[in-house]
Amino acid sequence: NESQSIYELIGEDQIRQLTSHFYKEVAENKALSALYPEDLASAENRLFLFLLQVFGGPSTYSEQRGHPRLRMRHLKWQIDGKMRDHWMNAMLKALDNLKLDTNIKEAMLSYFVKAANHMVNQP
Ligand code: HEM
Repeated sequence: NESQSIYELIGEDQIRQLTSHFYKEVAENKALSALYPEDLASAENRLFLFLLQVFGGPSTYSEQRGHPRLRMRHLKWQIDGKMRDHWMNAMLKALDNLKLDTNIKEAMLSYFVKAANHMVNQP
């Protein structure tokens, strides 16, 4: 149904699982884990709340963190095409761990590709 959000279609639990898998990938990737804080659990919760919001769920993220301004928040890390690819690969693996309807997966993938390109701040 076109009018339903991704959040409504897949539910909070799948978004929780997605972020949990994603951070397992981050922990195993040297390039990524060099950027992320030691406290990955808190980082995982921030991404979880953000994704709930972005996919049409509750806006707890903005209540806690304010306007996302993600590109600005990412300027403190040097993100070039290679780093973006590390991030995207981790997210792809995380997505592959969920059993999602093809159309939903495509929609999520297309959002992540755009968002990840938008975060690139180095030539
Ligand atoms: C935070 C790296 C792309 C969403 C972070 C953090 C790092 C990071 C190191 C700090 C972790 C924390 O303490 O929360 C990267 C890299 C990317 C990338 C290397 C490569 C392209 C993205 C994308 C999204 C995203 C595409 C959204 C789909 C977030 C969010 C936070 C965050 C929501 C927490 C912001 C906050 O509230 O402080 N990112 N990120 N990131 N990232 Fe990314």
